[in-house]
Amino acid sequence: MYLLAPFTEDREVFGVTHGFIHKRKMPKSEVKTSLLDNMIGVGDSVLLEPLTEDTFLENLKNRFDHSEIYTYIGSVVISVNPYRHLPIYTPEKVEEYRNRNFYELSPHIYALADEAYRSLRDQDKDQCILITGESGAGKTEASKLVMSYVAAVCGKGAEVNQVKEQLLQSNPVLEAFGNAKTMRNDNSSRFGKYMDIEFDFKGDPLGGVISNYLLEKSRVVKQPRGERNFHIFYQLLSGGSEDLLKQLKLEREFNQYNYLGLDSAKVNGVDDAANFRTVKNAMQIVGFMDDEVELVLEVVAAVLKLGNIEFKPESRVNGLDESRIQDKNELKEICELLGQDQAVLERAFSFRTVEAKQEKVSTTLNVAQAYYARDALAKNLYNRLFTWLVNRINESIKAQSKVRKKVMGVLDIYGFEIFENNSFEQFIINYCNEKLQQIFIELTLKEEQEEYIKEGIEWTHIEYFNNAIICELIENNTNGILAMLDEECLRPGTVTDETFLEKLNQVCAVHERFESRMSKSSRFLNDTTLPHNCFRIQHYAGKVMYHVEGFVDKNNDLLYRDLSQAMWKTNHVLVKSLFPEGNPAKMSLKRPPTAGSQFKASVATLMKNLQTKNPNYIRCIKPNDQKAPHIFAEALVRHQVRYLGLMENVRVRRAGYAFKQPYESCLERYKMLCSQTWPHWRQGSRDGVKVLLTELQIPPEEFSYGRSKIFIRNPRTLFELEDLRKRRLEDLATLIQKIYRGWKCRTNFLLMKKSQIIISAWTKRHFQRKKYLQLKSVTLIIQSYIRGWKARKLLRELKHQKRCEESATTIAAYWRGFQARMEVRRLKEAAMHKHAIAVIWAYWLGYEARRELKRLKEEARRKHAVAVIWAYWLGLKVRREYRKFFRANAGKKIYEFTIQRIMQKYFLEMKKKLPSMSPTEKTWPPRPYFFLDDTHTELKRIFHLWRCKKYRDQFTEQKKAIFEEKLEASELFKDKKALYTNSVQQPFQGDYLEISKNPKYQKLNGAVEEKIVLADVVNKINRANGKVAPRIFLLTQSNFILADQKSGQIKSTIPVMDITSVSVSKQTDGLFAVHLKEGSTAAAKGDFLFTSDRLIEIITKLYRTIFFKTNQKINVEINNEFLVQFNQDKVCVKFIQGAQKNGNLPTCKRKNNRLLEVTVP
Ligand SMILES: Nc1ncnc2c1ncn2[C@@H]1O[C@H](COP(=O)(O)OP(=O)(O)OP(=O)(O)O)[C@@H](O)[C@H]1O
Ligand SMILES: [Mg+2]
Repeated sequence: MYLLAPFTEDREVFGVTHGFIHKRKMPKSEVKTSLLDNMIGVGDSVLLEPLTEDTFLENLKNRFDHSEIYTYIGSVVISVNPYRHLPIYTPEKVEEYRNRNFYELSPHIYALADEAYRSLRDQDKDQCILITGESGAGKTEASKLVMSYVAAVCGKGAEVNQVKEQLLQSNPVLEAFGNAKTMRNDNSSRFGKYMDIEFDFKGDPLGGVISNYLLEKSRVVKQPRGERNFHIFYQLLSGGSEDLLKQLKLEREFNQYNYLGLDSAKVNGVDDAANFRTVKNAMQIVGFMDDEVELVLEVVAAVLKLGNIEFKPESRVNGLDESRIQDKNELKEICELLGQDQAVLERAFSFRTVEAKQEKVSTTLNVAQAYYARDALAKNLYNRLFTWLVNRINESIKAQSKVRKKVMGVLDIYGFEIFENNSFEQFIINYCNEKLQQIFIELTLKEEQEEYIKEGIEWTHIEYFNNAIICELIENNTNGILAMLDEECLRPGTVTDETFLEKLNQVCAVHERFESRMSKSSRFLNDTTLPHNCFRIQHYAGKVMYHVEGFVDKNNDLLYRDLSQAMWKTNHVLVKSLFPEGNPAKMSLKRPPTAGSQFKASVATLMKNLQTKNPNYIRCIKPNDQKAPHIFAEALVRHQVRYLGLMENVRVRRAGYAFKQPYESCLERYKMLCSQTWPHWRQGSRDGVKVLLTELQIPPEEFSYGRSKIFIRNPRTLFELEDLRKRRLEDLATLIQKIYRGWKCRTNFLLMKKSQIIISAWTKRHFQRKKYLQLKSVTLIIQSYIRGWKARKLLRELKHQKRCEESATTIAAYWRGFQARMEVRRLKEAAMHKHAIAVIWAYWLGYEARRELKRLKEEARRKHAVAVIWAYWLGLKVRREYRKFFRANAGKKIYEFTIQRIMQKYFLEMKKKLPSMSPTEKTWPPRPYFFLDDTHTELKRIFHLWRCKKYRDQFTEQKKAIFEEKLEASELFKDKKALYTNSVQQPFQGDYLEISKNPKYQKLNGAVEEKIVLADVVNKINRANGKVAPRIFLLTQSNFILADQKSGQIKSTIPVMDITSVSVSKQTDGLFAVHLKEGSTAAAKGDFLFTSDRLIEIITKLYRTIFFKTNQKINVEINNEFLVQFNQDKVCVKFIQGAQKNGNLPTCKRKNNRLLEVTVP
């Protein structure tokens, strides 16, 4: 009884001073109320001594008798259904349990809800609350209590309250449609429900998601004796107003409807009418629109009325049985309710169309088939309506924000049940309960024990029954019962419930938990309690016998296609949406998954989901079968305690530790309690935890060190730690607050200081500026005063100077006057009066004139001075006035502008004054400004170049060639031969004879093949005697030809290549010698001598022709003495000046073998 020990004497607890923990004594008076105070029996079964099944039951009974319906096994809550109202769910109770540790107060479902909620909010762990127990044990009530507690303690505010209200109000709606009175429970859940409530980081609810599991829809058409259909039918008939019932075409009496079991239409203590109002109100709160509620009730009414359609047999000629609807009135009303064409629905009840590979086969339905079809439609309609309701509620309650959510899942699923006649539904329900038991075993018994071993904690194994084997029998994919059922359903050929049972007998006969009369095993051959059409399973909670009848049908869950198509054709929006497969466009030949496989899959998903969350268990126990208060049927409870494995649970808890946590999380959570681990612990977390626990002086028997986790034996120790942590956190919060406030004040101060500096800087600047402006204006005033003073001083000086000059003049004048007077007196004395007077008069006049002149001069000077001062003054005023308009660079701009203007003017004037375009023009206008000197010269040069270019551009190619020749001639002869000057004016014509046109020279023309460069008559000088004879001189591109002038007879043809050089004199004569290459044929007689007025043209053309032909320049010798080769002699041709006999022609005379004299003018 280690837990009791600390409470019997003064306890040592851990206190906090200076932020860290020390041990201190806590007086008895401070001990809080605890589950051990005023306790009836033992609140936590772990503390039972001795621990046996009997003491355990005795304890439960004892507590139950004293209205203590909750008992703990460690953290698991056992709840015994009181079947009466207890005053333990008041708002005061909620407040009492709020934020208190689990073991602090007597056991309560609120303590578990609080623990789960705080763990979710503070430790960010998703939670799930698993409520198990058989039908009527109080699971649904427990789930509602958990939800209402969480709603009461979590955040507040208009929005949050609305979410809470919607979450809570989803319960009455779903209960009305999904709960019914059964033999075991007046409000038995006929569907499984798992609800995820979503919270934000603060723990405020955001919304929720509801998942529903397999509704027991067979109840819609048939209920076992003493049971009822779903509540909503009774509620609608009892609570619906007259108008509503009329609108829905319903009668108020239950006995009007075949689908409502008559034996227990009224349930004691249940007010269906009031409940109907509650449901309608709840629907409104959840968010259903009025027209949606109307649609839902129409469907409910239609389902109810479907049960009243009856069929009668009708034999047809072909011997086949057909069915007819007995009274079509009901059908008509249904069709009106659903906006359906009566004929369509009638046909759907009479025929069945099977479609295979585009072939449609319609067969008539007999009466049994028609009833089957009717019931199938009713079941399906109701089932789909229920699923729609869940989805619609989900739509309303879904969380709006997308932030990360924390989740608390509450699972309330139909409890384990054993009826007189158990069918497919019970099989499914019990399978689900097996799975839940499995997850309980996995997490509390198996995993916990395994973990102790894994963590190296000393451990004695505790035996328990593991129901995995039963789960396996049902769900195994190859030979499980569900798999067999599916196989049978999908198999071609005749399939009946019996063939299914046969199959089970073959496959499962040997299973230790499966029992059947027909199995080959003889174990049950003689067991008369087991009928032939049944099989029995030994569930964890007891043996259940299942009747196979209906298994195949229910698993197939078939609705004739004609019916779903008929439903799709209605005008009723809700019904239409419930049968999407009735849309011919979306028709599929694929079989829908069976009910069993669907359920198996959804249960598997649920289990996976639960495993990811931190589980909290509530194990509900039903104290009696009479649903009566104060009765504690020991045998019944003992049975439940056994199958729920509660004893094993206690044993594991007792031997084990109350709390375990990985070292890292433990250190993270409590490190602030120890000076060494706070704020950072650099070594391993296991060592950190050790240091922490040692410093806190926690007795060593209170904990064990596992491999990765610390195990704390006593919950009390954990709470102490939590208490210390809470106090320490408060201290830390104060510290943080202190630092934050300090920081805030400092930041604020610095900000203010900064602002103050800025403000003072601006103020100083402002004052300095003001002072500066004042100083500036004062300076300007002083300046102007000084300038004025200076000007006045100047004026005074000028005046003084003038006065000095005036005085000098006056003195001089007086002096002169005195002199004059003296002179007058002297003249008077010495000469005649007259003369004296004249002289004096003349002096006087002179004096007057000078004075006048001086006065005029003075006046002029004064005027000038005034003008100067006035100009200064004006200048000052203008400068003062316009200073603000002028910028620093205005002078530069004005200068640039002036220069630009001058340049512009200069160029415009130059344009007008340009000289003529003749390249020979020499004149150029004078430059207007001295600084433009260089520009002016350059402009002149550019203009000349441009004018020359213009001139050149006018030339034709021909003219260009002529000029080239002229240029060549100038290069050869200019300043070398006097004759050249005359030739400048003469144009070079080349062909002077026009041989091609002249008939006289036809022969000559014929002989010349090439283009004629030059044709002229020259005089050939005889080598021997110097006499002259005219010859035609013809120059082509390769030869020069000499021909007779008269006949045109060719005398000699000399290739131009044979010409080596040409010689001429410096004079004005036209004589020239053509020197030939020595040894050439043409040179046999020697060099030629010719005279011609066109010497310049002939030699130039000869020179150019030879150059074009040979690319060599021949030598042109210009000398008054040169040598020529005549035959074998070298003869000197010498020019001498003399009188001319025959005009301008030179006269040649051969003096001797060596000399030829030429007389030129
Ligand atoms: N804590 C409780 N206080 C008072 N009455 C209770 C309490 N828990 C259950 N009951 C009574 O027991 C009845 C059955 O409880 P509940 O419907 O919760 O059972 P269940 O376990 O959900 O059963 P099923 O599996 O059939 O849905 C309730 O209608 C209520 O009258
Ligand atoms: Mg229930």
